[in-house]
Amino acid sequence: MTKITPQPGIMEIDLYVGGAAHVEGVSDVVKLSSNENPYGPSPSASAAARRASYELHRYPSTDHAELRAAIGEIHDVDPENVICGVGSDEVLQFIAQSYAGPGDEVIYTEHGFSMYPILAHACGATPVKVAEKDRVVDVDAILAACTDKTRIVFIANPANPTGTMIDLDACTRLAEGLPAEALLVLDGAYAEFEADYDGGVSLVERRENVIMTRTFSKIYGLGGLRIGWGYAPRAIIDVLNRVRQPFNLSTVQLATAEAALRDTDFMEKCRTDNERLRCWLATALKDLGVESDPSHTNFILARFANQNEADACDAYLKTQGLIVRKVAGYGLPNCLRITIGDESSCRRVAHAIGQFKRGET
Ligand SMILES: Cc1ncc(COP(=O)(O)O)c(C=O)c1O
Repeated sequence: MTKITPQPGIMEIDLYVGGAAHVEGVSDVVKLSSNENPYGPSPSASAAARRASYELHRYPSTDHAELRAAIGEIHDVDPENVICGVGSDEVLQFIAQSYAGPGDEVIYTEHGFSMYPILAHACGATPVKVAEKDRVVDVDAILAACTDKTRIVFIANPANPTGTMIDLDACTRLAEGLPAEALLVLDGAYAEFEADYDGGVSLVERRENVIMTRTFSKIYGLGGLRIGWGYAPRAIIDVLNRVRQPFNLSTVQLATAEAALRDTDFMEKCRTDNERLRCWLATALKDLGVESDPSHTNFILARFANQNEADACDAYLKTQGLIVRKVAGYGLPNCLRITIGDESSCRRVAHAIGQFKRGET
């Protein structure tokens, strides 16, 4: 008999479930389950990846200086206060690992991103789920849930899978109201989809207890490459860098992310196309009796009458080669999360939901 046991919390983790990509027996499949960019990355980013592939025998930079400088230029932030990670997931992990442990509490919200409780458990802390108000983060409820054990509050703004967001005043009130030992993490994975939203940059710059995270996986179309970053006061970046492995990002990741960032025209085109098609799809679904909250992201959370209807619609969409995301695990059993694809995918999904609602299945 061995006495080998995992650290506290590890066995509490429910494995992360990614979006499905295949349907048995259907070949012409459209994947609308992972909030990916339907156009792929910018051509200049793909070219940078190819060029970098000639340098695979070289170790990458340890300090990510060039990518951080580009982030500094494009987002008008201080590169010294930026940290890069293997997806924003890794930056979130650095935060949890550095600031929470056994006996501490990590707050996330009712329909919050499923990585937050996973990260809390992984470092032995206790995840604390706080109610939302009609699928929107509720600042007062979070503040009321804070205790002297609270160390981190994770919120995605805009949020996944609801697509809703809270304004800067609400974020400021949250940051100001937290106990002195607690950090606010503003997860900006979808920030670029909201024109004129800085993702929380200005709040990070005004406060000592706020961290913003961002990703290249969504609007930049680089989910397969795994690159993200965080922006925080220098003292926090100094802490996070101590748990970061020196070569966490490869030469290909660094070069590709930098090229993607610099192609601002491509990014802007993706944003405006997404906004146009999101608006079109939301209206088309509403006309079919399927409501959704105004979304600030690249997906819509479609609400059905009940779980049976949502499950039946999901099953029908699959037969039509359309893969969307069931979100019962997020406390939204009557909803389906539908990524905004290209125009033909949006038309296909609206057409199929129309058939389903009219009983033409
Ligand atoms: C709210 C939110 N945060 C973070 C992530 C993680 O993104 P990344 O690919 O950068 O790890 C996702 C991905 O789906 C997300 O939806």
